[in-house]
Amino acid sequence: MQPTTILITGSSQGIGKALSQLFLEKGYQVMGTSRSGKIKISHPAFESMPLDLTQMESIKAFEAQIANKGVKFDILINNAGIGPDLGTSFPEEASFDQTFDVNVKGQVFFTEAMINHLNKGAKLINVSSKMGSIEQCVGTDSVAYRMSKTALNMYTKILTNRYAGQFQIATLHPGWVRTNISGDSSKGRYSPEESAAMIYDFVASNFKSGIFWNVETTSENVW
Ligand SMILES: NC(=O)c1ccc[n+]([C@@H]2O[C@H](COP(=O)([O-])OP(=O)(O)OC[C@H]3O[C@@H](n4cnc5c(N)ncnc54)[C@H](OP(=O)(O)O)[C@@H]3O)[C@@H](O)[C@H]2O)c1
Repeated sequence: MQPTTILITGSSQGIGKALSQLFLEKGYQVMGTSRSGKIKISHPAFESMPLDLTQMESIKAFEAQIANKGVKFDILINNAGIGPDLGTSFPEEASFDQTFDVNVKGQVFFTEAMINHLNKGAKLINVSSKMGSIEQCVGTDSVAYRMSKTALNMYTKILTNRYAGQFQIATLHPGWVRTNISGDSSKGRYSPEESAAMIYDFVASNFKSGIFWNVETTSENVW
């Protein structure tokens, strides 16, 4: 039997790198991405590719290479994301644009480009955050980041409706993880490896399509 193929964006560090390593350990064929295409993972079943979600040309070039290789994925994890305004009190134009370019526009157009390269029954996972939950929001900070994840959740719902019966789709909160996303990797409840293990358990399960999953509580998050 062919190994299961998985594409994980943002694999150069943090959650995406830990996820790539875990899926490799589990016997998957893993393709990972970063803007430079240079990823410090050495494994015969790992391939790295350059992808900059802010550049439509980069998305198109990525898609052309996938088409050329004839690869089809069983799982796509849209993990790449940024949070330059995390912890800030007021929106600021440059970081607002940057956040929406990566976390919203980039995610949408990259996903649209990948749809034809997913196998029937493929799983499509968007790494969101409970910071994007409208019902749970009590904070006043991180305007662009929170809004970008709310938008990603909406896109997940739209995809679920569009591909009902074709793909298994979900958005998830990966826990509060010690990565560089906020500029201080000492803060967080989980190591990237712990978060990756919780995400793996969810992705490997036969989850209901269209849910917003919280890997910490192993239950559905409110939207
Ligand atoms: N850490 C947490 O506590 C936490 C909580 C909730 C949700 N999340 C979400 O989890 C995901 C992973 O975050 P993380 O904490 O692991 O962050 P991270 O360590 O900063 O990693 C982010 C990844 O995204 C890639 N990336 C950044 N800009 C990109 C662009 N323009 N195009 C393509 N890729 C780009 C980075 O690669 P290069 O810079 O090498 O290109 C890197 O591999 C994000 O979606 C984040 O919002 C994290």
